[in-house]
Amino acid sequence: MIAPDLTTAIDRLGALLDEASVVLPFTGAGISTECGIPDFRSPGGLWTKTQPIPFDQFMASQDMRDEAWRRRFVMDEYFANAKPGRGHRALASLYRVGKVRAVITQNIDNLHQVSGIAQHDIVELHGNTTFATCVACDRRYELDWVKDKYQAAGGRAPHCACNGYIKTATVSFGQAMPEDAMLRAHDLTGSCDLFISIGSSLVVWPAAGFPLRAKQKGARLAIVNREPTEFDEMADLVIRHDIGEVLGPFIAH
Ligand code: APR
Repeated sequence: MIAPDLTTAIDRLGALLDEASVVLPFTGAGISTECGIPDFRSPGGLWTKTQPIPFDQFMASQDMRDEAWRRRFVMDEYFANAKPGRGHRALASLYRVGKVRAVITQNIDNLHQVSGIAQHDIVELHGNTTFATCVACDRRYELDWVKDKYQAAGGRAPHCACNGYIKTATVSFGQAMPEDAMLRAHDLTGSCDLFISIGSSLVVWPAAGFPLRAKQKGARLAIVNREPTEFDEMADLVIRHDIGEVLGPFIAH
């Protein structure tokens, strides 16, 4: 059912939330656009301006590693000042009352953590961009340290003490998905009775497989997204309105 208007959308979503025991939110970049972080595939989104750097190119070329870090530091203006939006705060409210026990996110912006959801209850399928790790030994590096080294070397990406490459703790195209996160998402998806996809175009696999699995395992599926997705047909509720407008009423003050 596609909600005909915002009021009906909020009423129907509220009814689904009331009837559900275990609500599993699955978030994409659309939940963070009102926080000033651009998404990827909307008009003006990141992938409409630049091509992502695939993992093999990052590993093969110092120039690509330098470019990857240049782009990350340019994004500081978005990430450093971003605050949780109405969508994040609504999910945090539902989490505080136990309706939401965990969140699966494709986002790397750390805003679910900032909103008050515990790190161990957030499943980050594509990692987190607020710190870096060595791709060889997994040692953690803070971004300030990387930025100092990068700038002191005139825009060259630093290496780890083990001589491995240092990368933001995110998952690039062509990079292996985080095993623990995938297993946790698989389990959570099989034990919820309402799966809500929020702000995702649902075009990137294997992440996009989780709404499908939830439906197959008997959960109801709600999709909140401005644009249609290929899963709308199978959803119990489709809401094509602004996420902040839809979820704002569910923020507990
Ligand atoms: N309200 C409702 N929908 C919105 C809003 C908003 N305020 N802002 C954006 N959207 C919708 C867009 O219409 C779009 O369909 O959010 C969706 C975001 O889709 P994408 O930009 O494709 O982002 P996402 O689905 O999270 O991308 C998945 O792709 O590039 C990789 O790793 C990256 O995690 C990312 C993955």
